[in-house]
Amino acid sequence: MADLVIRKLGKTYFDLYAGRHVTAVADVSLEIHTGEFVSIVGASGCGKTTLLNMVAGFIPPSEGEILLGDRQVKGPGPDRGVVFQGFALFPWKSVLDNVAFGLKMRGVPRAERLRIAEEYVALVGLAGAESRYPTELSGGMQQRVGVARALANSPELLLMDEPFASVDAQTRMTLQEELTRIWEAKHPTILFVTHDVDEAVFLSDRVIVLTRSPGTVRAEVPIPLPRPRSWGRLVEDGRFKALVARVLALVRDSDPPTNPAGGQERSG
Ligand SMILES: Nc1ncnc2c1ncn2[C@@H]1O[C@H](COP(=O)(O)OP(=O)(O)O)[C@@H](O)[C@H]1O
Ligand SMILES: [Mg+2]
Repeated sequence: MADLVIRKLGKTYFDLYAGRHVTAVADVSLEIHTGEFVSIVGASGCGKTTLLNMVAGFIPPSEGEILLGDRQVKGPGPDRGVVFQGFALFPWKSVLDNVAFGLKMRGVPRAERLRIAEEYVALVGLAGAESRYPTELSGGMQQRVGVARALANSPELLLMDEPFASVDAQTRMTLQEELTRIWEAKHPTILFVTHDVDEAVFLSDRVIVLTRSPGTVRAEVPIPLPRPRSWGRLVEDGRFKALVARVLALVRDSDPPTNPAGGQERSG
């Protein structure tokens, strides 16, 4: 297990259509500690996916560096698991084989990888669906498979990019509750990206708010709500509502960046 350290990270794309450079992420520095659940929120287009993709190693930074423990991130690797909004499952593989895929790639013997895959399929509540194929599953079930597949590799860091954005509202709440339960059981380090402020506050130990494009850290808001968390408990909880209001104000840029009461907020 290792901390994630991001130093002065920036990304400038060349926009072929507009014929000019676009800075999507600028001067982002942050640290995520082992076992922590941190969300990044910000308006659509503020650079959240770009930031996550750099941490995943899918795209190279233009500036700065990313360290996982003492290793510099230079490309994708099994130390980081990724769950996207799209389900990205192999349609020709069963649930169990989808979850076992990364273990197979790493040469884990068949009996062992099936045992591990079964454990994670059960952890996400899909026991009994092991031999089904992705097309036979609802969106919520497919996303559970995606979470199980990422966790089965025991990554040091789980990266999630709006993973619940394409399921219906009821299913999303269930998946959020399940994710907090899984996090409490396994304590993976999670960096979760979303534009949904309620979701970020519900899930996280800490919420990082990005400014509008180019995305840079506007504020960090600690979320000291007790766990386990459930929507039944939190939806009427005054502290939850106050935290949501505060993060929402920061996202909408209507709050001054100085905040003596609430942790380490800083202007960006
Ligand atoms: N491959 C790319 N080429 C050019 N511009 C891009 C590319 N990917 C993203 N962008 C731009 O970078 C900005 C941030 O995008 P993105 O990281 O997807 O934001 P978010 O995930 O917060 O919605 C946007 O202005 C987007 O148009
Ligand atoms: Mg995005």
